[in-house]
Amino acid sequence: MNKRIIVALDFDSKKQAMSLLDRLDAELCRVKVGKELFTACGPGLVKDIIKRGFDVFLDLKFHDIPNTVARAVQVVAHMRVWMLNIHASGGLIMMQQAREALEGFGERRPLLIGVTVLTSLAKEALEQVGIAGNPEEQVSKLAFLSLEAGLDGVVCSAAETRLLRAQLPEDFCLVTPGIRRPEDASGDQKRIVGPADAIQGGSSYLVVGRPITRAESPNQALKEFNSAIASVT
Ligand code: C5P
Repeated sequence: MNKRIIVALDFDSKKQAMSLLDRLDAELCRVKVGKELFTACGPGLVKDIIKRGFDVFLDLKFHDIPNTVARAVQVVAHMRVWMLNIHASGGLIMMQQAREALEGFGERRPLLIGVTVLTSLAKEALEQVGIAGNPEEQVSKLAFLSLEAGLDGVVCSAAETRLLRAQLPEDFCLVTPGIRRPEDASGDQKRIVGPADAIQGGSSYLVVGRPITRAESPNQALKEFNSAIASVT
């Protein structure tokens, strides 16, 4: 099966992360390790998660001078993660060098994904840092720059997928958070989209946190997300 659900391990301890993994089937999902868990537990935990059979998306959003990012990306690839990301606003050369740093990894090369515009930044916040105009145009511009640099896809909000999917190649990955079933609490997510709608809108992978991690039975919730997706694929 094509595992499209990426469960966000938004925890600050190994104990919490591992106890969730005990309750999830690695055949039914992949997992995301972000800055919180990585800062608390480091690469050792990432390796342990991979040993348990889970594909890991390491969400560290690198953004630095090209040489520094390329070297960090190579270290991440040696951990054998499945996917990692960098900020597209780091520029074309930074992204190209990151992509080149992965050349030697052959079949084990992780997918390299660009972060366009953080969804926490609205028009006014973008203007404050010197980016005028429509935020959607900036997302689109950075998605094309990611494509030009040879990246495998971008992270984007489900609200942006239709627009991007219409403009970008079919195999360019769109990785989408903010996914909820009708019965889920939206939490702090502002613009939520259902799993089937997100896939129909062109998402390749869905990042889901609390609706699965805080469910009474995380694996049951995961199965429900997978069935919703299966109904439209
Ligand atoms: O719990 P929830 O499903 O809202 O978690 C979504 C995950 O996706 C979290 O790890 C969050 O940091 C991440 N994310 C997001 N919105 C973005 C980018 C990432 O919710 N624009």
